[in-house]
Amino acid sequence: MKYNIAVIPGDGIGPEIVREAQKVLDAAAKKYGFTLEYTELLMGGASIDANGSPLTDETIETARANDAVLMGSIGGDAKTSPWYQLPPSLRPEAGLLKLRKSLNLFANLRPAYLYEELKAACPLRDEIIGDGFDLLIMRELTGGLYFGARSTVEEDGVRKATDTLVYNEKEIRRIAVKAFDIARKRRKEVCSVDKANVLDSSRLWRSVVEEVAKDYPDVELSHMLVDNCAMQLVRDPGQFDVILTENMFGDILSDEASMVTGSIGMLSSASLNETKFGLYEPSHGSAPDIAGQGIANPIATVLSAAMMLRYSLDLDEAADAVEAAVKQVLSEGYRTGDIMSDGCTRVGTVQMGDLIAARV
Ligand code: IPM
Ligand code: MG
Repeated sequence: MKYNIAVIPGDGIGPEIVREAQKVLDAAAKKYGFTLEYTELLMGGASIDANGSPLTDETIETARANDAVLMGSIGGDAKTSPWYQLPPSLRPEAGLLKLRKSLNLFANLRPAYLYEELKAACPLRDEIIGDGFDLLIMRELTGGLYFGARSTVEEDGVRKATDTLVYNEKEIRRIAVKAFDIARKRRKEVCSVDKANVLDSSRLWRSVVEEVAKDYPDVELSHMLVDNCAMQLVRDPGQFDVILTENMFGDILSDEASMVTGSIGMLSSASLNETKFGLYEPSHGSAPDIAGQGIANPIATVLSAAMMLRYSLDLDEAADAVEAAVKQVLSEGYRTGDIMSDGCTRVGTVQMGDLIAARV
């Protein structure tokens, strides 16, 4: 079987980590007898430099014509990079948001779990970690504050900026359905996170989620306010199975969740629409401060590639093998700098990719 994969290396550490993920994918392809054909695409700063815009329509169409998209990361240093002298709609991040919206990738899955091997890298105390945690953030990705009307105006010499948080019930329903569906394959618990004590959009969110829950009597639904959730994630992360939340809350909570796994360099993500198609990218950014040094952790991207095998290509066995290879490398004591601890062997980006690929 042959699959077509669009690859967006992006900026900063993006090209380095994507290269390692492709190496691991190729090892899986060889072992499990399938072929991946890659088409490289430009997005973010790399596309600004080449095309004067962070994402061209042609790139969107090429991405759409593939079975899935594998991405590194985009963006640069906001203080020093010339990309950030451009108007907001032409900056690197605008390309990513446009791609997500154009391809209707409304469901963003961000799994966060603690590898036994990385307990030492987890900043939480042992008694808080307990038996570890295994949660998944289901983040709505094409609505809310990110895509509502915004403006900056000046009235009587006073500057005023507005962003709008809009959701309609259809957008809430479809992401809730995704959350309940995935909860069925896990521990059957959905915690819907909102700010219903203040926001209308959250009150609608809560009532639609409750309607959807009626179709899933086997899944337990709870609600939590977002500020409390931020606190609970560091107080007792083991209490969560699936966290369902809107775009902005999910952005913030997923960075927090990633840190308790030991490093943001461990958190993978999949962005899906109603079809099998998906965009797979690490949850972390382009880390321009360490780009080109060969020290970035490629594991979040490798695990995103595993999610691609599972969700877009239905290659569960190969996905399992990639995930097991990551676990094995960690249990053998290999670590990139961000997850390094006493007694372990420090390796660089390429070496980490080699080690994982060899164990697939
Ligand atoms: C993420 C990132 C993006 C987001 C940025 C780069 C626009 O932080 O994927 O979490 O806010 O969604
Ligand atoms: Mg983010």
